[in-house]
Amino acid sequence: MTKINAAITAVASYVPDYILSNKELEKLVDTNDEWITSRTGIKERRILKGEDQGVTEMAKVAVERLLEKRGIGPEEIDLVIFCTVTPDKVFPASANIVSRKVGMNNAFGFDLNAACSGFIYGLTTGSKFIESGTHKKVVVIGADKMSSIIDYTDRATCIIFGDGAGAVLLEADETGNGIQDAILKSDGAGEEFLHQKAGGSERPASAGTVERGEHYVYQEGKTVFKFAVSKMADVSYEIMQRNSLTADDIAWLVPHQANLRIIDATANRMGVGKEKVMINIDRYGNTTNGTIPLCLVDWENKLHKGDNIILSAFGGGFTWGSVYLKWAYNPS
Ligand code: UT7
Repeated sequence: MTKINAAITAVASYVPDYILSNKELEKLVDTNDEWITSRTGIKERRILKGEDQGVTEMAKVAVERLLEKRGIGPEEIDLVIFCTVTPDKVFPASANIVSRKVGMNNAFGFDLNAACSGFIYGLTTGSKFIESGTHKKVVVIGADKMSSIIDYTDRATCIIFGDGAGAVLLEADETGNGIQDAILKSDGAGEEFLHQKAGGSERPASAGTVERGEHYVYQEGKTVFKFAVSKMADVSYEIMQRNSLTADDIAWLVPHQANLRIIDATANRMGVGKEKVMINIDRYGNTTNGTIPLCLVDWENKLHKGDNIILSAFGGGFTWGSVYLKWAYNPS
């Protein structure tokens, strides 16, 4: 019997129009373009403005573009996995909200939270429904409105994050392309270094928690950086070894865009040259669940059937991992 793989058959994205530049951040906090650029690689990020605009507003456009590109209707989707740390609401799931907005009325859906590794966790989860044959068309969304949980008086975090949404369609592939392997890891010991202190069931929202700014991202950057550099590089190397891949075999590395120095360390460990690394952190910053699908969209026209691609991420939790896939279609 032919093996069924889950393959990405379309990609799409949406980023808000508003550009928050390093120069503008200089007016908000004690920072400067030179520091931000040299320490992170970021020049600007997108911000979703306006009242009552949640993450599903961005995801809606990304999914509509996805369906249009593939030429299918929303009712054909069986499953929606929405990877995010900034859902519209704690409940119902943003997967349900975006399904209603787009008209994916035959799909079941759920949110998946694995911080910055969410998209590769979601992609792997979605692939199982395709591989088992129970579901034919799975939409995996990676989207975050990070500006909703960022303190724009905290220079340690406000320079890093941005807003954006990406979506991919997973379908069956019986030609050998699609997702080949995944290594996903987590370690709850990372909680203290990257988290949101309040707003959950442990410390529900109150006037006091809001006053103390406990609904914002808290990050001990240096510690997270050290873990990210070693874990993301190690897992990317591990998936190469496990699949007998040399650097020459790899067409593209698609790393989570948290810091250019983390991306460089990962590529170096893999022996992959910079010309094969997708980097758009300069334009979008860290969009958390959005980074990897936003890269796939930006590079889609350079991807060819059979290209060996490694996706890698590291994020809060800690969570990290790598996915190895063979690209399933040529540029149109
Ligand atoms: O995506 C989820 C996972 N997250 C990550 O992977 C993020 C990992 N961490 C990082 O990317 C980096 O740690 C940061 C970009 C957050 C910070 O860079 P760093 O090189 O680790 O800087 P640092 O925190 O060690 O700070 C170095 C210096 C400090 O000054 P002193 O103590 O040396 O005088 C900071 O106060 O830079 C100062 N600093 C800044 N200066 C100008 C910190 N933030 C800024 C800033 N502008 N925005």
